[in-house]
Amino acid sequence: MTTYKPEEIKESVKQRYARAAQEEASCCSPAADSCCEPTEIHITSKAEGEAAVTEGDLGLSCGSPTAFGDISTGDTVLDLGSGAGVDVFRASGPAGPSGRVIGVDMTPEMIDLATANAARGGFDNVEFRLGELEALPVDDNSVDVALSNCVINLVPDKQTAFAELYRVLAPGGRFVISDVVTIGDLDDDVRADLATWAQCVSGAIDRTEYLGLIEATGFTDVEVITDHPFEEDRPTQSITVRGFKR
Ligand SMILES: C[S@@+](CC[C@H](N)C(=O)[O-])C[C@H]1O[C@@H](n2cnc3c(N)ncnc32)[C@H](O)[C@@H]1O
Repeated sequence: MTTYKPEEIKESVKQRYARAAQEEASCCSPAADSCCEPTEIHITSKAEGEAAVTEGDLGLSCGSPTAFGDISTGDTVLDLGSGAGVDVFRASGPAGPSGRVIGVDMTPEMIDLATANAARGGFDNVEFRLGELEALPVDDNSVDVALSNCVINLVPDKQTAFAELYRVLAPGGRFVISDVVTIGDLDDDVRADLATWAQCVSGAIDRTEYLGLIEATGFTDVEVITDHPFEEDRPTQSITVRGFKR
């Protein structure tokens, strides 16, 4: 079975999501750098803000972590692997003007698209930072609620990603993560396929191992809130899991 270095896997993942962002931004959206006349970004209606939330949803998610985030006014919220920004925009309202929602993503094209979506949607309590889950560009103990949607399965070093999540959460803070896990063996050729890794399958680990990693990091009251099949033809599940830093 071919084994790839973590950096090769991450490069392949980055290329896939750069393409997804560029296809979305390719025509007549604020992130486009060709084919449209430059337009002034000027939000005039709530509908335009809602449209930006919709544009942030590229269909790359596997759950609704924001719905279980219990986000309060004034919270600092972090979305790990924010893509085009869908969960950041969903969290923006509950965090309110005194709160802050930060999206982190390693793909520059996604950061550009999310930033353009935020401007178009008039979300002024959000920001997007280029960075990796394994070395978050976020201060220690600074986050009240961390979210993530279909990302950690893509990360080769999940242990470091969970350790970074622990570092940035404030004591009493919590995370809600939707992600793909396995509940049986994947074929070797699937495990060895970079394209399938980037499709959120090959990098998924066993559900029990995943929850064990979270607990070993130091999180408490770890609970699976929802689960459902991710693919019909492979033993994969999408789970939404919550945990706390005490
Ligand atoms: C499947 S998409 C999900 C995007 C978004 N959460 C959503 O639900 O629409 C995965 C995203 O995670 C990002 N990503 C993958 N591995 C990452 C890592 N190690 N550090 C930061 N971002 C990463 C990718 O660039 C991509 O934008």
